[in-house]
Amino acid sequence: MSFTTPKEKSDDRKIEQTLRPKSLLEFVGQDKAKKNLDISIEAAQKRKEPLEHLLFHGGSGLGKTTLAHLLANEMRANIRITSGPAIEKVGDLGAILTNLEEGDILFIDEIHRLNKLIEEVLYPAMEDFVLDIIIGKGPSARTIRLDIPKFTLIGATTRMGLISSPLLNRFGIVHRLDFYSNDEIQKIVKRSGKILDVMINSEGAGKIAQSSRQTPRVANRLIRRVRDYAQVKGDGIITEEIAEEALRELEVDHLGLEEADRKILKTIIEKFNGGPVGLGTISSAVSEEKDTLEDVYEPYLVKLGFIARTPRGRIATKLAYEHLGIKYPEKEQSSLL
Ligand SMILES: Nc1ncnc2c1ncn2[C@@H]1O[C@H](COP(=O)(O)OP(=O)(O)O)[C@@H](O)[C@H]1O
Ligand SMILES: [Mg+2]
Repeated sequence: MSFTTPKEKSDDRKIEQTLRPKSLLEFVGQDKAKKNLDISIEAAQKRKEPLEHLLFHGGSGLGKTTLAHLLANEMRANIRITSGPAIEKVGDLGAILTNLEEGDILFIDEIHRLNKLIEEVLYPAMEDFVLDIIIGKGPSARTIRLDIPKFTLIGATTRMGLISSPLLNRFGIVHRLDFYSNDEIQKIVKRSGKILDVMINSEGAGKIAQSSRQTPRVANRLIRRVRDYAQVKGDGIITEEIAEEALRELEVDHLGLEEADRKILKTIIEKFNGGPVGLGTISSAVSEEKDTLEDVYEPYLVKLGFIARTPRGRIATKLAYEHLGIKYPEKEQSSLL
């Protein structure tokens, strides 16, 4: 059971809604994006027009969905929510687009997974707010062009590299969300603690923040797990000791790594001599899907400097050896680099 996966789990959903910041002011961190979004909102409001189409990219749990909701809130706009894989047919998108109202926000999560045919219907909709539909079949088929209301498309993706350039070019605003600093995560922990009515002292918040993979979703999940522990084993207050014990019990280390992360690192080190080894090979050795490795585990391991990506594959760095307490073979490794 994974506690620090940044991916959304089924029991996160309800609680995340209550923890979601509703305004830019409440949204912690990501200062550059926030500043620019603030300007975009004000400009759109002055022009009395919907926001330009926006794309958010960055790892799971860093705040993309939150920002989409928050922007709808700030713009006092309705938000319609769907996702790349949920739009299966051109007609599905047609139905969504024709049902929009002027100024609505259409949020498409995992937009990199839109099928190409559907993507092509989206282009004129984004650009000129029109929808081309084909009526009839064979030689008598003809296209008619429908006007659709001026809307704002907000796309979110964890895989910027998979967004086609024609789609990318149609977004007026693109923001990348980064991992959060320790201070920012602590702020989020304290804020969530208040909302959930959990007593957390500063040291306790610090411990939880340290193990949160610099990711708000993980922080919010760990608070709940540690709170349960505090209620059963302590007096309900999350102190440094309680947080430490709870995290040890959950087998989450002080960097937020779990068994699955350690297994990935150990596999590279022990089975493949520290690498370089291809992602596909690691994937079969640890029985995790390649996409999961790339989207869920790897970004933070790279951020920590434990894994390096090279043209020949992944390498476990000296820091990874040290973290696992495995002796680093100085010479062998450096000749590979
Ligand atoms: N900047 C932030 N400040 C406070 N809480 C945040 C922030 N970003 C994300 N969160 C919290 O983390 C959770 C996951 O964020 P979400 O927007 O769903 O991530 P994503 O869509 O990028 O996977 C949300 O429920 C929200 O409570
Ligand atoms: Mg999301």
